[in-house]
Amino acid sequence: MVNFKNNISLLPYNTFGINVKTSSFIHVRKTDHLLNALKKKSFEKILVIGQGSNVLFTKDYPGLIILMDNHGIEIIKENQKEVIVKVQSGENWHQFVLWCLKNNYGGVENLALIPGKVGAAPIQNIGAYGVEIKDVFLSCNTLELSSLTFKEFNPDECSFGYRDSVFKSKLKGKYIITSVTLKLQKYPHKVNVSYGNLEKILKGKKKTIQNIAESVIKIRSSKLPDPKIIGNCGSFFKNPIISKSQLKDLIKTFKEVPFYSHSKDKIKIPAAWIIEKLGYKGYNENKVGVYKNHSLVLINLGNARGKDVKLLAEKIRSKVLDVFSISLEYEVNVW
Ligand code: EPU
Repeated sequence: MVNFKNNISLLPYNTFGINVKTSSFIHVRKTDHLLNALKKKSFEKILVIGQGSNVLFTKDYPGLIILMDNHGIEIIKENQKEVIVKVQSGENWHQFVLWCLKNNYGGVENLALIPGKVGAAPIQNIGAYGVEIKDVFLSCNTLELSSLTFKEFNPDECSFGYRDSVFKSKLKGKYIITSVTLKLQKYPHKVNVSYGNLEKILKGKKKTIQNIAESVIKIRSSKLPDPKIIGNCGSFFKNPIISKSQLKDLIKTFKEVPFYSHSKDKIKIPAAWIIEKLGYKGYNENKVGVYKNHSLVLINLGNARGKDVKLLAEKIRSKVLDVFSISLEYEVNVW
């Protein structure tokens, strides 16, 4: 059963370490408990958190926060080449990656050490080092809040994009993901080491999924702060996508701008580079900082308030707009 709690602090439930309150809260350990709880009481505002690793609270939450903590990893089909795995949404993503590595199932090794739970992964189509969850995604089960019925989504229905899906846009807040089903590869794996310095770090080592994950963990740990030690939500902004002609103009002033092809006529440039160029790397104000090893990460220097994090984020956004004529979008959900 699930107990409703009222007026509790969200401090233990968000990796930014922001101390705000929520009017109501439930901790869900089983999917059918979620359904029973929502049948009992209705709420105008509902927000699901897993690890709270992609959310910034700027004020008290005037509704129900649902902490999904449902567990289970189940092989539902396999052949000699592939295995289909259903994972409950409350499983920790990185622990799931470790389970795959232990069983020698390939496909998610580049996504090692991404904070958060499995249920959040399709919402923002988590991605790192050249791989996104959409590359292994088969379906997800969800609970529709308006009808309290379960609905399965296939990849097309999810409309995955760069750090985006239908659950972040058209259907935002309408469904709760209860499990995710992925298709993974058995040995021999098709690996992807084309991103940045991944190949260089692997030099001399076999390109096994275990070695790739180890290298990814090494790169991430050297650049990104551990949220258990320094409050943060990973990348605060998305990398902006601009047109080729915008890039041409940019290169006139900044010859060294790094860029990656995004689609036929669009280019992605690292927001981290722009922010560093503007001198914000290592900057801090009101107990909020820009991380010294990666300028895309805003950090809590101790007892920061959510509204001060947003103030700094907005200051950076408006400077970027002024100097680069680029409008940065938040990657983090700001409430
Ligand atoms: N860079 C700088 N200054 C910095 C950091 C990076 O100029 O302080 C420039 C460098 O040119 C570097 C480039 O930015 O080569 C790219 O940096 P990085 O490889 O660290 O990747 P990113 O584009 O900043 C994205 C994801 C990360 C993911 C990495 C690796 C987004 C918003 N972020 O960051 O995801 O780990 O690629 O694939 O797409 C997250 O979503 O929370 C996250 C950490």
